[in-house]
Amino acid sequence: MDTVTCIKSRRSVRKFTSEKVSRDIIEELVGTAAYAPSWKNTQTTRYIAIESEEIKSKLAAECCAEHNASIINGAPVIIATVIVDKRSGYERDGSFSTVREDNWQAFDNGIATQTFCLAAADKGLGTVIMGLYDIDKAQQILQVPEGQLLMSMVALGYPAEEPTAPKRKTVEDLLTYR
Ligand SMILES: Cc1cc2nc3c(=O)[nH]c(=O)nc-3n(C[C@H](O)[C@H](O)[C@H](O)COP(=O)(O)O)c2cc1C
Repeated sequence: MDTVTCIKSRRSVRKFTSEKVSRDIIEELVGTAAYAPSWKNTQTTRYIAIESEEIKSKLAAECCAEHNASIINGAPVIIATVIVDKRSGYERDGSFSTVREDNWQAFDNGIATQTFCLAAADKGLGTVIMGLYDIDKAQQILQVPEGQLLMSMVALGYPAEEPTAPKRKTVEDLLTYR
């Protein structure tokens, strides 16, 4: 698939078949996402692949409202994306490099996560990035290591739906020149 087709045809998929996603594929997607750009090539995004039904059920029951809970329960695997804290956007002495302070670490995580989702779409897999959940509780359940911050949870699986694209803003809405 060419790049523009992949970008435009990727949709957030919220319903999946019961087919498992092999570890070979998960590892290939993470390997592709590793090529995402990052602040000074700090590469601070980490991935936790949650295959355990028990952990998924716990995340769904304890961290999410109904909408995301049903996505998590219905997905064969959830990929939690995690940031190694205090690297992207920081100087070596721990001070912020710019007035955007620690925003750059979420910026890097977002690029890496979208790269992961595009790599998945290229392989015929569906994803949806989820941000609406109790991050503190999920961070505990997933035993995210000290010094790392949980960001999104991405449901991953073979699509059982073909959503139509939500309306996009026009180029005129989005672009100005100076
Ligand atoms: C940071 C972020 C958080 C999101 N959180 C959720 C979420 O919690 N639940 C959900 O169903 N979709 C979530 N989405 C998916 C968006 O709703 C979706 O990307 C948007 O409606 C556009 O649809 P598309 O991805 O099919 O183009 C999130 C997307 C992003 C980028």
